[in-house]
Amino acid sequence: MSRVVRVAVVGYGGMGGWHTRLLQEIPEVELAGVYDILPERNKAAEEAGIKAYDSLEALLADETIDVVTVAIPNDLHEEVCIKVMEAGKAAISEKPVTMSTAVLENMIAASNRTGSLFTVHQNRRWDEDFRTAEKIYKSGDLGRVFEIQSRVHGSRGIPGDWRNTKAQGGGMVLDWGVHLLDQMNMMMGKMPVSVYAVLSNVTNEEVDDGFTATFKFDDGLVFTVEVGTSNFINLPRWYILGLNGTSVIEDWDVSGRTVIATCKEGHDAVPIVTAAGLTKTMAPRTPETIETLPIEKVHCDIKDYYRNIAAVVNGEAEQIVTHDQQRDLMKLMEAIFESAEKNEVVFF
Ligand SMILES: NC(=O)c1ccc[n+]([C@@H]2O[C@H](COP(=O)([O-])OP(=O)(O)OC[C@H]3O[C@@H](n4cnc5c(N)ncnc54)[C@H](O)[C@@H]3O)[C@@H](O)[C@H]2O)c1
Repeated sequence: MSRVVRVAVVGYGGMGGWHTRLLQEIPEVELAGVYDILPERNKAAEEAGIKAYDSLEALLADETIDVVTVAIPNDLHEEVCIKVMEAGKAAISEKPVTMSTAVLENMIAASNRTGSLFTVHQNRRWDEDFRTAEKIYKSGDLGRVFEIQSRVHGSRGIPGDWRNTKAQGGGMVLDWGVHLLDQMNMMMGKMPVSVYAVLSNVTNEEVDDGFTATFKFDDGLVFTVEVGTSNFINLPRWYILGLNGTSVIEDWDVSGRTVIATCKEGHDAVPIVTAAGLTKTMAPRTPETIETLPIEKVHCDIKDYYRNIAAVVNGEAEQIVTHDQQRDLMKLMEAIFESAEKNEVVFF
């Protein structure tokens, strides 16, 4: 039997609370406790039956703790993760790991120096809409895929906390972009050739409250990643276009459909007459030339994230979220900012 791995959480805010609940549902790990800089958050943890440490030092001095998940604002990940590794414990940073390649390299160097595991919580690899889109892309069912659009839309602007400020690593590229870019990297398995990006500042001047980034890959595939926070009508979560068909996944519930061409020739399109003209190019397909199929949801389990961490700590597996993957992600985010600032295509 593998040893149960003990995990503590630094930061008992929105995401820290989520980690504590998840950790208590996985037999391979055990929640050791939390530390939050705000006494009222420690009190809230105790009221939820969770041990709260008086200080980060007290938490790090607890020799029974193997792993520390760091769920605090983005500008603080580096300092706390390095302290965790120097205390001989594995560090899991919340995403985005940090805000620049230079700082990421400090964190990786600390892992190499101390021999402590260092990884990042890229939890949205376990989102079922993503796994389903990935399967559709890789299945070849649509023929050669030439375009993928991945977007998330909200209508409330940026949350009015540290996410509003540049110094703390606010903005939607770092917040949601990092998830969608990680998913793109997992799907494509390679870096793109170039990106052109536009940031939005609809509700916030200091940091981006959304963006659109268009990546080109060496085989010609165009992958658009978009985050919007002033969208009262959402566009679909995924839109995947192949030479033989198109798939749409509307939302996180993975509703949607695939339309496949059953016959491309021999059926002339019926021209459609609009208010001011006529078009055959844009006419809808006649029913006998297409087949509409439901989306088959791919199931996965977010608990596998911590199961992997436990296996890595027990020397039984390799870490799923690697340093090189984080390097690639950081390059993509830095290129988005550079492209938007210069209004130019940036090449990798
Ligand atoms: N992976 C995901 O799906 C996901 C979702 C939400 C947030 N996050 C990430 O989690 C991190 C935290 O975000 P959040 O939404 O929980 O923020 P939050 O503001 O809700 O919580 C942050 C908590 O950290 C505490 N804190 C701040 N500085 C601290 C320090 N030095 N030591 C200990 N505690 C400290 C605060 O008091 C607060 O309770 C961010 O990096 C964010 O990007 C990830």
